[in-house]
Amino acid sequence: MQKDYTGTTTVIVGGTHGMGLATARMLADGGGRVLVAGRNSANVAAANRALSPNGEAMVSDVAARADVETLAKYAEARLRSLDFLFVNVGVSELAPLAEITEETYDRHFSVNTRGAFFAMQQLSPLIRDGGSIVVTSSVADEGGHPGMGIYSASKAALVSLASSFAAELLPRGIRVNTISPGFIRTPTHGVAGLTDAERAEFEAIGNQTTPMGRNGTAEEVARAVLFLAFEATFTTGAKLAIDGGLGQKITAPLA
Ligand SMILES: NC(=O)c1ccc[n+]([C@@H]2O[C@H](COP(=O)([O-])OP(=O)(O)OC[C@H]3O[C@@H](n4cnc5c(N)ncnc54)[C@H](OP(=O)(O)O)[C@@H]3O)[C@@H](O)[C@H]2O)c1
Repeated sequence: MQKDYTGTTTVIVGGTHGMGLATARMLADGGGRVLVAGRNSANVAAANRALSPNGEAMVSDVAARADVETLAKYAEARLRSLDFLFVNVGVSELAPLAEITEETYDRHFSVNTRGAFFAMQQLSPLIRDGGSIVVTSSVADEGGHPGMGIYSASKAALVSLASSFAAELLPRGIRVNTISPGFIRTPTHGVAGLTDAERAEFEAIGNQTTPMGRNGTAEEVARAVLFLAFEATFTTGAKLAIDGGLGQKITAPLA
């Protein structure tokens, strides 16, 4: 059921496709005003069309400090204050640790950790007292996952930063929570550069390894995000798993 978000204002950093765009759509369809940002201009143009008239999209590379500052200034000019900031940006490139280059390492940390941090630092002053932030981590932020070591480390650092923001924003009544998605069916499946066949294989692995026996949808993530953002008024500093049981130490019954 579509909820009413009339009168609310939101910025989504990394909101031009997948779970960020699904969240933006739910807000805009419910009458909320939303500004989403992404790096790829074709995705930004498509998001602009999808979100009109309540939402708009702009090009902003979270890895570039100047872009983040421009996004914050534009958000202030367009929306004045924010009820909700969703920091959903992320990149993941699969490679074993032995093959990680300095460039790969830096790309993950400059987007997933440094970029997300400065987005929160620059945009949180716009959030009204009593508003909220949700940050997207991953089920891979704990434990060891072959081929995802750098991604996992960058997201684990992000969870730590989100906890610190939760503590420091307590005096303003701003709640900061993290989501931890498992396998979610999005245009990229959360991994850069996969071929269609590799994406299908990734989805099949998700179906096999997830206790609920399937990949989640971007809309299921969006509903959980908006619950944390607007309804979970006694929840801060928490991490919500949206993973079909994948990270929850439960197993499906034996057939
Ligand atoms: N899908 C999954 O199974 C899964 C699982 C666990 C966690 N996650 C995490 O969930 C989040 C969303 O994943 P997703 O699969 O929906 O989409 P995604 O392909 O990971 O992209 C997320 C968003 O980030 C934007 N983005 C990427 N690099 C950027 C940069 N340098 N500056 C600004 N924006 C940038 C993308 O826009 P452009 O590409 O247009 O720039 C897109 O809007 C990510 O943080 C991901 O790590 C995903």
